[in-house]
Amino acid sequence: MPIKQLQEEIIKLKQEQDVVILAHYYQPIEIQEIADFIGGSLKLSRTAKENVNTEYIIFAGVDFMAETASIINPEKHVLIPNYEACCPMAAFLTPEMVKEFKKEHPGLPVVVYVNSTAAVKAESDICCTSANAVKIVKNISQEFNVEAVLFGPDANLADYAEQISNIKTIKMPDKGHCYVHSQITADDIKTVKEKYSKAELLVHPECIRDVRELADYVGSTTHMYNYVKERSPEINEFIIGTEVGLLERMAQDFPKKNFYLAKDKLICYQMKKHNLELIEYLLKNLDDKAFEVKVPPEIAKRAINPIEKMLDFS
Ligand code: 13P
Ligand code: SF4
Repeated sequence: MPIKQLQEEIIKLKQEQDVVILAHYYQPIEIQEIADFIGGSLKLSRTAKENVNTEYIIFAGVDFMAETASIINPEKHVLIPNYEACCPMAAFLTPEMVKEFKKEHPGLPVVVYVNSTAAVKAESDICCTSANAVKIVKNISQEFNVEAVLFGPDANLADYAEQISNIKTIKMPDKGHCYVHSQITADDIKTVKEKYSKAELLVHPECIRDVRELADYVGSTTHMYNYVKERSPEINEFIIGTEVGLLERMAQDFPKKNFYLAKDKLICYQMKKHNLELIEYLLKNLDDKAFEVKVPPEIAKRAINPIEKMLDFS
């Protein structure tokens, strides 16, 4: 079926039922176009908690995002179009590792990036996203009256939070990273800046420090989007150092501005595992349990506190 026709069919099915579709900025653009809410991970968590009144939520994002929505909405059915959409960063940190780090550093708070498993969140004091990591690190270190925190699994975001907050972040583990962002090198940036010398460079905090230091702006997906939106009309060229889906969103929303990717193929293949056909299937089969995201209650019971604490703090 042609894309437009499938999108119309999805919109019709959606209107007939008690369901909303949430989509992350990294989703294929044809999915973003049929979503009720589009955003970064913090904005989508907030939306799932505060703005959604339907019985069903279709979450077009990766597993940890849908799990988070399910944990904070235990009474709703959260469905993921393709359950193979799993963020590989989460595999860098297990609950056993967190327990070991806690033993080695008694008294330090544990900050866990939402890009982690629910079982890891359950071992933490507070969660964070890339939009609020600096604030969370500052607030929790004050609450515990300490000068350092344990932080995982992204060592680059931990490094960024440490640089800005002046609070030491002990990385759990040293090398946790996102393969999409950490592939961007300072040489890539020099090449792209030579090509587009008037463009401003915006990068995600999951990028390595050498890349972040060349940027005009470092921020989460939502922060980058808002930065472009609020920039004066004379500034109309931007190099984007994050997944291509955000660039596609901005190109549609700000047609007078030009966007260039920091390097070719900045694609999160896990985010791209969803498609319109799978969403159409779900809309016709909302009760298909194979697609419902359920966190075991004993883990969900412990993971909800650090997530709620993050939402309260930010
Ligand atoms: P944001 O929190 O900035 O939306 O990023 C999520 C993510 O997975 C980054 O790779
Ligand atoms: Fe995970 Fe990186 Fe994909 Fe974000 S872009 S979901 S951190 S693999």
